Amino acid sequence: MDDLRKKYLDAIAGAMDESTLEYVRVSAIGKKGEVALKMRELGKMTPEERQTAGPALNALKNEINSALMAKKEGLADAALNERLQTEWLDVSLPGRKRPAGTIHPISQVTEEVTAIFADMGFSVAEGPQIESDWFNFDALNIPPEHPARQEHDTFFMSLPEGADRAPHVLRTHTSPVQIRAMSEQGAPIRVIAPGRVYRCDYDQTHTPMFHQIEGLAIDKDISMANLKWVLEEFVRSFFEVDNVELRFRASHFPFTEPSAEVDIRCSWKDGTLKVGEGDDWLEILGSGMVHPKVLAAAGVDPEEWQGFAFGLGIDRIAMLKYGIPDLRAFFDSDLRWLRHYGFASLDQPNLQGGLSR
Ligand code: PHE
Repeated sequence: MDDLRKKYLDAIAGAMDESTLEYVRVSAIGKKGEVALKMRELGKMTPEERQTAGPALNALKNEINSALMAKKEGLADAALNERLQTEWLDVSLPGRKRPAGTIHPISQVTEEVTAIFADMGFSVAEGPQIESDWFNFDALNIPPEHPARQEHDTFFMSLPEGADRAPHVLRTHTSPVQIRAMSEQGAPIRVIAPGRVYRCDYDQTHTPMFHQIEGLAIDKDISMANLKWVLEEFVRSFFEVDNVELRFRASHFPFTEPSAEVDIRCSWKDGTLKVGEGDDWLEILGSGMVHPKVLAAAGVDPEEWQGFAFGLGIDRIAMLKYGIPDLRAFFDSDLRWLRHYGFASLDQPNLQGGLSR
């Protein structure tokens, strides 16, 4: 019995993991373990022998059991300690910085303008940046020899050899979207079309790529008065001032008749711009009543329908609203500029916050 005792207590002490321990348990006190076998032998003993051997075997069984439990706990503690050592984490360390980008002023302003016009019932229309000569010019009443074609400093796409058509262009304005929207949706229609446009020009207020928002409203009895109201309402909302004064200056565009360029009253004091006061005027858009030929080109009957269109320079009004002096910096992708003038991603414009009406 002492041999058995020593054998198993040593085995338990030496066990390095739970599965070894379980093996020891089964071979010692399991149903077919050595202690159990010895217990079975009790039957062959004399009552006297049994009286000492029985309790002794029971005590041995209990002793082994206790040793097993103690060792098992020890192993579990050791395992936990090991995990605590290896999976150690200093929760007081500062978090890892995630680079957060900013919303470009052009994106922000485009969203702002879209929100304001959406509130007035305009939906958003789109067109391609590479446009056919017909959509960009002819359909807008600018025939091939028209001087307006020269004024646009157009970028032309290369023409495949032998092609029997005018080369495509990088659209010089968003006005071709008027034609596309009317051809697709017919009349009545109320859309705005924000997007990139291209002209070969480069200085403090011009970049070869810039942004416009086209506006178009066609119905049975839309007049210049509606145009004026919509633009005043827009400017009031966009610049967040109540007293805006707009000046409609007679102008000329082949695709509108009559045509007007619109200036906004403002003041420049100490290099900062204030809208709605002062003696300066700043041109922000071109507009007019859509020319009957343009309606006809888009499949809309000019005898039945009429309306206004306007083209607003997004970059221009972004510079004005947020006091950004040089347009070229908009597209330099200089991180310092982007961090300074960019907007937080949660700073999304809507009519409830950010934009007062
Ligand atoms: N497309 C004109 C431009 O780019 C602006 C404009 C749009 C004028 C619609 C009148 C009507 O200068």
